[in-house]
Amino acid sequence: MKITKAVIPAAGLGTRLLPATKAQPKEMLPVVDKPVLHYVVEEAVKSGIEDILIITGRGKRAIVDYFDAYPELEHHLMKSGKYDLLEEIRKVTELANIYYVRQKSPRGLGDALLYAERFVGDEPFAVLLGDDIVISNPPCTKSLIELYEEYKTNVIAVEEVSREDVSKYGIIDPEEVADGIYRVKDIIEKPKIDEAPSNLATMGRYVLTPKIFDYLKRIGPGYGGEIQLTDALRASLKDYELYAFHFRGKRYDIGDKFGFIKANIELALEREDIGKKVRDYLKSLKI
Ligand code: UTP
Repeated sequence: MKITKAVIPAAGLGTRLLPATKAQPKEMLPVVDKPVLHYVVEEAVKSGIEDILIITGRGKRAIVDYFDAYPELEHHLMKSGKYDLLEEIRKVTELANIYYVRQKSPRGLGDALLYAERFVGDEPFAVLLGDDIVISNPPCTKSLIELYEEYKTNVIAVEEVSREDVSKYGIIDPEEVADGIYRVKDIIEKPKIDEAPSNLATMGRYVLTPKIFDYLKRIGPGYGGEIQLTDALRASLKDYELYAFHFRGKRYDIGDKFGFIKANIELALEREDIGKKVRDYLKSLKI
């Protein structure tokens, strides 16, 4: 079955970026000149996704506005002859078919995903966390879709993190079955350093089968009192295999201050219009 649906959870509180996120969704913070979520939707579309469900919540209306048409603005740009901008604004609304559902309260990523059950139906689907920008060619989600087509079971992307950071992520116990592909023997949400089975961490990209909903409903609150996707994947291991893809591109966790700054600097450096200026400026700082 071709994978054409994706779910983007974007209902978290974003406490690590307060006060910026008090009245502004972190998924809408600009990285250079596009909100984080725009990059995430682009990755999904480049991976063959056609229908996207964004899980929003209280205070996240800017997300819905962003992907909607804005006739007054379009009229203004047309009248003032700003055709390039006009085209760009229109392209945003044509990226994909986007649907929304609101998570009633932020009870964790696993709880957010439960709101996608009806949208997903009986098809496998991609999950892209709304606060991770992932840059690679081919896109990470496309690689996961290909892996799913080979193994026909849940697949996740992982990347290496430093040993000190393992307690911030879901960490896998890997058995390498092909170059950069692991069978996951176990997966633990935010383990203590000395209990982590490896330094391979989940990084916000998944392709899942709808069976995951049965486990999400069963598991109950985990780390931080939240319903954790990692716990549902762990519970599913007794019935289904789980495979991990070792991602080697760039990933920016925008929910983290340093990740947000890094994304802005590095993606600005790549831009044709301002890349050189930014590079010269950084060099001039002599730090
Ligand atoms: P995070 O783990 O970054 O949580 O969520 P958070 O609550 O947004 O951020 P902090 O830790 O308070 O700073 C990972 C992804 O899951 C979504 C978030 O929007 C983010 O894209 N999420 C998280 C939900 O949709 N609902 C939740 O209840 C929690």
